[in-house]
Amino acid sequence: MEKSLEASRFRLGACYYPEQWPEEMWEEDLKRMKKMNFSIIRIAEFAWSVFEPREGEYRFELFDKVLDLAHQYGIEVILGTPTATPPAWLTAKYPEVLNVSQQRVSYQHGQRRHYNYNSPVYRELSAKITRKMAEHYKNHPAVVGWQIDNELNCEINVFYSEADHKAFREWLQKKYGNLERLNEAWGAVFWNQTYSDWEQVHLTRPTVSDSPNPHQALDEKRFISYSAISFAQLQADILRIAAPRHWVTTNGIFGHLDSHSLTESCLDFISYDSYPNFSTIYPDKGEEPLLDRKWSLNLSVARDISPNFCVMEQQSGPGGWVNKMEMPSPKPGQMRLWTYQSIAHGADMILFFRWRTAVFGTEIYWHGINDYHNEPNRRVMEAAGIGRELAEVGDRIVGTRYQADIAIIRDYDNEWDGELDKWHGQMQGKSVSAWFKALQYHHIPADVIYLRDQADCSHLNKYKVLVYPHPAILFDATAQVLKDYVRRGGTVIFGCRSGYKNKDGHCLRMRMPGYAAELCGITVEDFTLIGPNEQAPTVIMTAQAGTRELKGEAFNDILRVESAAAEVLAVYQDTYYAGKPALVRNKYGEGTAYYFGAAFELTAAASLIEELGIVSPIEGHMELPKPVELSIRKHPGTGESFIFLLNYSGHEQTVRFNTEFIDLLKNCKLHGDVKMEPYGVYVIQ
Ligand code: GAL
Repeated sequence: MEKSLEASRFRLGACYYPEQWPEEMWEEDLKRMKKMNFSIIRIAEFAWSVFEPREGEYRFELFDKVLDLAHQYGIEVILGTPTATPPAWLTAKYPEVLNVSQQRVSYQHGQRRHYNYNSPVYRELSAKITRKMAEHYKNHPAVVGWQIDNELNCEINVFYSEADHKAFREWLQKKYGNLERLNEAWGAVFWNQTYSDWEQVHLTRPTVSDSPNPHQALDEKRFISYSAISFAQLQADILRIAAPRHWVTTNGIFGHLDSHSLTESCLDFISYDSYPNFSTIYPDKGEEPLLDRKWSLNLSVARDISPNFCVMEQQSGPGGWVNKMEMPSPKPGQMRLWTYQSIAHGADMILFFRWRTAVFGTEIYWHGINDYHNEPNRRVMEAAGIGRELAEVGDRIVGTRYQADIAIIRDYDNEWDGELDKWHGQMQGKSVSAWFKALQYHHIPADVIYLRDQADCSHLNKYKVLVYPHPAILFDATAQVLKDYVRRGGTVIFGCRSGYKNKDGHCLRMRMPGYAAELCGITVEDFTLIGPNEQAPTVIMTAQAGTRELKGEAFNDILRVESAAAEVLAVYQDTYYAGKPALVRNKYGEGTAYYFGAAFELTAAASLIEELGIVSPIEGHMELPKPVELSIRKHPGTGESFIFLLNYSGHEQTVRFNTEFIDLLKNCKLHGDVKMEPYGVYVIQ
């Protein structure tokens, strides 16, 4: 069943922490929110000690007052279950709830997310506080939904407490049944790792050179994901029974967590926390970085989970913790730009993080809309402007869906296996980012889709092109799905190192690319990593539009053509394999498969886009400069469309409109050459 946010109106709001402010401020805050056209707040996700100051002693007065006030001002409320920050009484009395590092150091009180998912007592106490809150607030007229915990697997996504080792063993017993099968899956005969008793089996522990068994490490990540989901499930089950009128979500998409399965089993829809200014401290690598525009890739992942979703935290100020993360302030207009970036990608509800900057604690430099002094400032004005615009147009956009003909495929097994794997791990991010960038700069909207074990063809068929950069782990069943897709007329593009591992991360005793070889019409004759002190070779591509020079980045598969329907489109230069195929196109059924023997860089992705003749859907109607992103949302029933143009540059950009359009936000005509303001946004119908 599709898990999407179903809203009849657009909701804008803020994350609010009444417990951090004097009571006299609450009413004024809510009154001002209302004036700014905010209609929703999220509260309480870190307030466990307010609700339960001592074990078993529950207090609801503080939040009762806030909820009543919110209702009085017509503001809806999302309640967070407070389990991301266990109280001091809890961790002191039950130290076994603490998360532990691989080196067996317990993480102590003072930050957040210092618990583990498998401690029986933590599960019991989390269930209790969730049930108490749900029973208390199930009928409060302000409450509309729940956020489980806060950002599962953020900050830390590995867990090595005693409870985790034990639960891992039980998980493995269920998965493998007996030690023989476990030993086989983990290739335990290699370096004498064979287990003869379950008590010898653990999560990865410190090893010489810090290099654990790779198959055990892959299972560990699957187990962490399973643990996080089972912890969320515990709370979701309680909320469904105790507060059946409310929806349930959680915020964030983090490592070692299959957020698709999480949403399927526990949530009504996913929520994402969007902080595009991280791009200023962690810019994406490679040429012409996307910077804050790269958040469109993350939002596309959220959209693959829930076509319409919530942005529970939308950056509204400069970020920073006392001891880390140095971020500049969003420039005038950037907060508005980022808000529409979220909407362009499918968000139908957005809450700014946070209403007011904290005056104490780790996040005194993580600024919200209001400053410490609480007087009007530039960000308050900008947020109020967004509120006004969305009050006008938001409801018309709600429920429309992002449109794309091309998708980049990812999957959890390869992400998790690749994390430890120096040979193929480094290529995944590089190639996905190169493709996304090339599509962005060509103004071609794209989806990101996760292939999962139970993948069937139906959701793939709507795409003309699928790019699956480096699926080292590629099941026979997945290859069959892709073959069916291509046979019916689709196009699939692979990069190097595809199809050579099985589900346990063992290498297949087959010619590469394993189960994808027939589809691609090639095998890999020889291969090499480009060593740290070597230059990537030039690749010469003979394309329809002339000859192009690409780079054979990171790794080179030297290809051998195996099918009469296969054609060499590019060859390597200046190496011992000069003249050998680097890019092959194979006709398969009604469709085509491409295999590129290297990782993709921007030019390689751009050349393939041109070779395939993929053009922007607005071609002929408008001419967009490079810094402007294009997204289109369409109503599934009425077909009504909204075109979003987002200028990420701090400079004016000229857009040429060959047809006359109307910008719904400023209600002005767009025709001929139009100057788009720095960080400007158009929403066009
Ligand atoms: C998010 C988190 C918030 C806040 C924010 C800014 O990851 O959910 O609670 O910490 O980042 O750092």
